Amino acid sequence: MKVSIIGGGGLVGSMAAYALHLGKVASHICILDANQQVAEGVALDILQGTSLVADQRVTAGTISKDIPDSHTVVITAGLRRKPEESRLDLINRNVDLFLDLLAQVKAAGLKPTTNLVVVSNPVDILTHLAVEKSGLDWRRVIGLGTQLDTARLNSHLARRLNLPATQVKALLLGEHGDSMVPIWSSATVAGLPLATWPGYSPAMEREVFEETKTAGATMIKLKGGSGFAVGVSIREVVESLLLDSRKILPVSTLQQGLYGIRDICLSVATVIGCGGAREQIEVPISPRELVALQNSAKVLKDILAQVRARLAGKPVAATPPAQPAASPAQAAAAERSVPRQAWQGR
Ligand SMILES: NC(=O)c1ccc[n+]([C@@H]2O[C@H](COP(=O)([O-])OP(=O)(O)OC[C@H]3O[C@@H](n4cnc5c(N)ncnc54)[C@H](O)[C@@H]3O)[C@@H](O)[C@H]2O)c1
Repeated sequence: MKVSIIGGGGLVGSMAAYALHLGKVASHICILDANQQVAEGVALDILQGTSLVADQRVTAGTISKDIPDSHTVVITAGLRRKPEESRLDLINRNVDLFLDLLAQVKAAGLKPTTNLVVVSNPVDILTHLAVEKSGLDWRRVIGLGTQLDTARLNSHLARRLNLPATQVKALLLGEHGDSMVPIWSSATVAGLPLATWPGYSPAMEREVFEETKTAGATMIKLKGGSGFAVGVSIREVVESLLLDSRKILPVSTLQQGLYGIRDICLSVATVIGCGGAREQIEVPISPRELVALQNSAKVLKDILAQVRARLAGKPVAATPPAQPAASPAQAAAAERSVPRQAWQGR
């Protein structure tokens, strides 16, 4: 099956292509990039290893020619976060680029059965816009969400505990950004509760989460950006789609009411397989984690409102003004908006 990567000439896209190449599942990997020469270079470089790896076609292409027969389209085209710039500061620059790309992809003749995997940041917002504007069913539009963050969390935790990384299982849900929520209440090591593991401490939770939250910025500082881990994170999602593996992955999709959240894209545990996002799963979380997750949804809705206002040509405030609570329900909701302390104080 054919996977096209738009932005495949860049760091993230080329790493995703290489990870897919090593995974041997996609039969055709197509690299698309505004920089056609780099796209051709990446495709040729990977192609030269196929005789040692897998019988794959690896080509450079164009949106008009290669999107219509793609099983899955991955969008990694975007502008990189600068050091010290938050993911969400990239919004204005990336939204315009993304909407323009989406229009081209749609005009090329996107089949209703194509899966669209959004990686570019801010990924939850762009995923939401893709659901609204691509014409695809929401189940076909999947943002990478907290898939990479979850991989990082588990890998960092395993390193601290001196354990095999594949046996550490903790989820990160919500926004791919500062308001993401570690679900410590169900974290396990080799199937046993993390909290009972020798060497574990609540301080370790805090440190590992901080390390995870700042991992993107650390990568930018050390080597210019994330590549290897994001590449294999994308492969996990794409291969689950291609193979109908039905893996349960923390990816960003349009929320339908789980945890009381709807009308925004963010990450919850999601079954990924034939048809795209087959099911969203409400894994049990603690009341404190629920508050934090609902806050993450609110953070994203505020950003989306700013994006919409800007697109509609209205002036946008730098930060949305706090709304006075008009009803007891709103007052209660406002009182619940103390997420940072809620999950960092553990
Ligand atoms: N969701 C995640 O977990 C995650 C993780 C890491 C990076 N990212 C995001 O991925 C994106 C790419 O990061 P990168 O490090 O690969 O950046 P990069 O600069 O290395 O690559 C971006 C590529 O996009 C291409 N491009 C730009 N505009 C284009 C267009 N209109 N059409 C086709 N190609 C176009 C550029 O030529 C470039 O090759 C960024 O938005 C980054 O924030 C997301």
